[in-house]
This record gives sequence, structure tokens and C-alpha cells, in this order.
Amino acid sequence: MPPENHSDPILTRLLGGAALPLTVGPAAILTLAATGAAQVGPALVAALAAAAGGLYLNTRYKAAQARLRPAPTLAPAPDRSGPPYGVILEHLPDPLMVIAAEEADDLTGRRFVFANAAARELFRIQREGTLLVTAMRNPQVLEAVDEALFGGIERAVEYETGGTQGRSWIAYARPLSDTSQVSRLAMLVLRDETDARRSERTRADFLANASHELRTPLASLSGFIETLRGHAKDDPGARDKFLGIMLAQAERMSRLIDDLMSLSRIELNEHIAPLGRVDLAMAAIDVIDALAPQAKEKAVAFDPVLPPRGAAVVEGDRDQIIQVIQNLIDNAIKYTPRGGVVRVEIFPGLSADAAASPRDPAAARMSLLTPDHAAGERYAALRVTDRGPGLAREHLPRLTERFYRVEGQKSGDRSGTGLGLAIVKHIMNRHRGGLTVESVQGEGATFAFYIPMSKSGALAGPGPSAEAAVAEAEAEA
Ligand SMILES: Nc1ncnc2c1ncn2[C@@H]1O[C@H](COP(=O)(O)OP(=O)(O)O)[C@@H](O)[C@H]1O
Ligand SMILES: [Mg+2]
Repeated sequence: MPPENHSDPILTRLLGGAALPLTVGPAAILTLAATGAAQVGPALVAALAAAAGGLYLNTRYKAAQARLRPAPTLAPAPDRSGPPYGVILEHLPDPLMVIAAEEADDLTGRRFVFANAAARELFRIQREGTLLVTAMRNPQVLEAVDEALFGGIERAVEYETGGTQGRSWIAYARPLSDTSQVSRLAMLVLRDETDARRSERTRADFLANASHELRTPLASLSGFIETLRGHAKDDPGARDKFLGIMLAQAERMSRLIDDLMSLSRIELNEHIAPLGRVDLAMAAIDVIDALAPQAKEKAVAFDPVLPPRGAAVVEGDRDQIIQVIQNLIDNAIKYTPRGGVVRVEIFPGLSADAAASPRDPAAARMSLLTPDHAAGERYAALRVTDRGPGLAREHLPRLTERFYRVEGQKSGDRSGTGLGLAIVKHIMNRHRGGLTVESVQGEGATFAFYIPMSKSGALAGPGPSAEAAVAEAEAEA
């Protein structure tokens, strides 16, 4: 049988008036896609691409199958230069398939005649003619494909795949042949919506949590205002006590807002690599100095084990690194009983594995953030260890969630917002760093972060102060 030259008037108009002979059967498309051939019969592929863009294509699958022929050669077609539609379809990131069927009631008769690389990988489709039901089992999607094949209906279906790696998908099915034909073709395109769904959910949860967190102190403030206007009006003792509580609640709201603003600022530039160099030891000394009054109040002693200046210089944003160290040391002080000791250690020149490896094999341990490290990258790690109550294993994975606080934990009068470690994680992510926690319950906790060291080498020579050393580092960068 001679190849049937078939042209579609709409298609012809769209593609510039040239008649497009469909001389390659759908089976050949799959073959071509599977072999990764770059130069598919340009007319056919153009037609399929156009169909993918929303055009109906009168292709007769049965006739096409009867004239199955070897794929055209890879030789470029000089008279038909144009976009390489075959390559485009093959490499679309979304799974795209063409499904053929003969009879409406033969449900097992739907077969793939085309599947691009993403579709073949997703469904492990090996060869042309594979049954649709072996790959796709979702009844709504199968129904949508049937409606496209035999009802001429275009439809989108949302569905989820289960398992530990559950994903959300949108499946678009649309007809490629018209309903007067015996053999039908339909296109099925899938789009992975998992990330979009997840971020929608995160946003909604975040708003709900933030409102709830603000509402609690606000409700307490309103309550005390009522009391002060009512029966406590003439009781100076009660008034002083209530005003004290109100101040604490107002301060809590203010801390929450500061942390929320800080988190949103950090998220905004999270994808911009930090400029500058920071000497971790100098930064740690600054934070220890700044937190000394707070530590003194709780009779907590610092035990710093720091390398000399210039030995642990990392690539980073100084203010953000300070914020990270401050959050970790602040937690250590806050969650340590009176008279505790907080150790701050810095380890320069570590490999990624060494930086992430546990200190105490007996401790419960969790990597809260692991960087994609380049081979040969050297890291400097900073660890903060306290001898407080520590954390039960089940809390570790959730510590960097926004607003997550371990229930029943004593933190003194400065109750936390639960945003500190979330901020730490985002800053570390921006710095291509890692974050780990280790704890033996009842004996204390160690929080550690590690960041790539500066490639420009250590700073040589002693300087008069930490500030000067850092200024020098930044000037050199
Ligand atoms: N050093 C620590 N020891 C014990 N628990 C800690 C320690 N650091 C953090 N946590 C727990 O992790 C939670 C989250 O910490 P974080 O995000 O800094 O929030 P916040 O300090 O505002 O409560 C804390 O509420 C606390 O329950
Ligand atoms: Mg904190």
C-alpha cells in the first residue's frame, strides 16, 4: 500500500500553507523517540507538535499501522528547515503520550503509539504498542482518555499517586482524531503538581500558624485590659502584676513579628549566594560577648574552644552567620538549667562527610539540612553543646519547622517563637551549608552547622580586633 498523503486544512493554514504529507506511522514516532533520533520526518512531527498545541489531527492509526516502515534516516532534510519538533516533544519535561484505540468497548485495547522520554521513564514503557492499562491505573484518567478517544472531549483530571513518595498530578487528555474515524488517537500529557500543591499547603499552614501565634498574646492583653478596667481598677498590687504580664505579652508579639520579618527577608534572597568572608571564630566571640548578660542571669558558663583568627574563614554574609550562631547559643542558654555550661567549638578544614558525621555514636542524631556539595569542598563547622535536657529522637526531624516547639520544655521567661531554627536552616541553605542535631535525652544537645570555607585562603597575620579581622576579610573578598 502506498503511503497516504494526508493533509489537514487547519494545520496547513497554521504551518504556512504547505501541505504536510503524513508519511510516517505513529509507530515510527515511538521508535524514533525511543532511539532519540533528532531528525524525525519533519512534517509528521510538526503535525504532532501542532496537535499538542491544540489542533485536531486526522490521522488514521489503522492505516498507519499497516504501513509500518523503518524510521527515516538521520540525514537532515535541507528543504524543510524549521524547529526540530521531534526533539522538542522527546525532551519536554512533562510526560507526553499518544494513545490509539480501535473499539470503544475493548477497554484493554488502548495502546501507546508515542511516549516521550519523560513518559517512558515514568511508566517504564519499553516498546510501542504497550497497553495503556499496564502503565496508568487511575480510573479517572483512563476515563478521560476514553472520552478523548471516543467522545471527542478534552478534559483535565487531578490525581495522586500513593506510596512513600506520593505525588500530585494533572492529566490532560484530548482527542487527536475526529469522532467519525474508526481508529482513534488521543494525547495524554501529565504535569507533576506536587511542589505547587506542597507550597500552597505550606503557605496556608504558615498563615494559620502565624495568626494563631499572634492571637494568643493579643487575647491575653485584651483580657488584662478588661480586668484592669473592671475589678482590678483600685487594686495597685494587681495592677502592677498585670501590667508586668502585659508587657511580657507585648514583647512576645514584638519578637514574633521580628522573627517573621527576618524569616521573610531571608527567604527573599535565599537563592542569592552570599558575598563576603566571615571568620567564624571572630563571629563566635562577638556572639558570646553579646549573650554574656543573658548567660550570667542564668549562671550559665561558656566553654569556647576556638581556632586562631584566620583559620576558619568561610564564604558568607556576616550578619546572617551571626544570627545563626546567636540563635544556637541563645537556645543552649535558654534550654539549659541554671548553672549549666555551653560549649562552642569550631572545626575548620573538614570534608563534607567529616563535617556531617556524628560525635557521639550513642546519641540520637539528625541531619536537618545536607548541602549538595561539590567534590573536594572544605568546610568549617561550628558546634554548640549544652548539658540541658536534650531532645527525644521523635522531635529531631521537626525542629526546623516554623513554630515547632517541644512541649513542656522550660525556657525561662523568654518563651520562644519556634522560628529560630527555621531561620537558621534558611540561612544555612543560602550558604550551601549543612545543619545537624545530636542529643542524648537528659544529657544535653549539640547543634552544629558547617559552611564551605573561603577559597581565597586564610587571612594571614594577627589583627587588633575581631572587627578589624572581619573587615579585612571582607575587603579582601
Ligand atoms: N539546645 C536545645 N536543647 C533542647 N531543646 C532545644 C534546644 N534548642 C532548641 N530546642 C527545641 O527546639 C525548639 C525550636 O527551637 P527554635 O526554633 O530556636 O525556637 P525557640 O527557641 O523560639 O523556641 C525549641 O522550642 C525547643 O523546644
Ligand atoms: Mg530559638
